Amino acid sequence: MSDQVRIVEVGPRDGLQNEKTPVSVEDRIAFVKALVGAGLHTVEVGSFVSPKAIPKMMGSDQVFLGVRHLPGEFHVLVPNEKGYEGAKAVGAKVIAMFASASEGFSRANINCSVAESIERFKPVVERARADGIRVRGYVSCVLGCPYDGDVALQAVVDVSKTLFDLGCYEVSLGDTIGVGTPSKARQMLRAVAGSIPMPKLAMHFHDTYGQALANLYAGMEEGCRVVDSAAGGLGGCPYAPGATGNVGTEDVVYMLEGMGIATGVDMNKLLAATNTISALIGRPPVSRVASALNAKKR
Ligand code: HMG
Ligand code: MG
Repeated sequence: MSDQVRIVEVGPRDGLQNEKTPVSVEDRIAFVKALVGAGLHTVEVGSFVSPKAIPKMMGSDQVFLGVRHLPGEFHVLVPNEKGYEGAKAVGAKVIAMFASASEGFSRANINCSVAESIERFKPVVERARADGIRVRGYVSCVLGCPYDGDVALQAVVDVSKTLFDLGCYEVSLGDTIGVGTPSKARQMLRAVAGSIPMPKLAMHFHDTYGQALANLYAGMEEGCRVVDSAAGGLGGCPYAPGATGNVGTEDVVYMLEGMGIATGVDMNKLLAATNTISALIGRPPVSRVASALNAKKR
């Protein structure tokens, strides 16, 4: 496992979308700058979704405009053509679209069935292709749904393959509520990799039950090399009650570096970025490594 892993930092979007305290556009721009300065060059910076659905992501256009000149690849989440127009207007080069492997979550999150969400995808992907914008695909609830419970592996495979066949350059597999365990994560990746080449898959694991690192390790053993994480373990999902944030970026970096896999991330700078955003939202980071390093400093 001594090859490279690509980290997609999603804290400014997946993290901040679900924090109680709203963070201003200026502070979100400063957060992204600090993350890039720490060596995280692929960052999801916001979303072009309904402000009624996700008020914390208002001003994502301004955030994008405030960071687009930085050296990095900045993603924005888009649910439909209206979101696409917003993303295109600010010059986004990569958008992320999302579908669910389960009906219950699809309905709660984006107010339509899985099949309808795929239909919504199609015109966006076509326009993106014509405009030279790359599309990343998310599949939610790959290891369980907060509404439907267990999710059939075949449903995960089918939705993932649909997104990939539509033209997504990468499909990120979301354990939205963090219920997976290593053997299930391994089985799920193996099943999806039967239809999509492993280099096109990413792991997007929330850490609700403290399994995310173990699940990532199992996925890495299967050959997956792209990891989504959030600085400080920020966030959760507004439509997944009780779900906590993504696996903490500090925890991922610590594990990888400890395994001899260089990440290019400066842990001190990352910790500083995490501590600044944590102070703004008024709660300490849940990332274990961030907590440990902060305790050591005191
Ligand atoms: P809807 O109510 O069915 O849509 O919502 P609609 O087309 O009827 O529009 C309703 C209103 O929203 C209208 O405004 C539209 O203009 C507006 P009104 O006339 O009432 O004033 N609207 C928009 N405004 C701004 N940007 C847009 C947009 N689209 C419509 N793009 C919709 C459907 C999808 C819009 C809504 O449900 C929505 O925005 N949902 C967002 C949900 C979301 O962002 N969830 C969190 C992200 S997903 C996630 O976190 C999982 C992930 O991390 C992976 C994982 O962990 O599994 C990715
Ligand atoms: Mg997520």
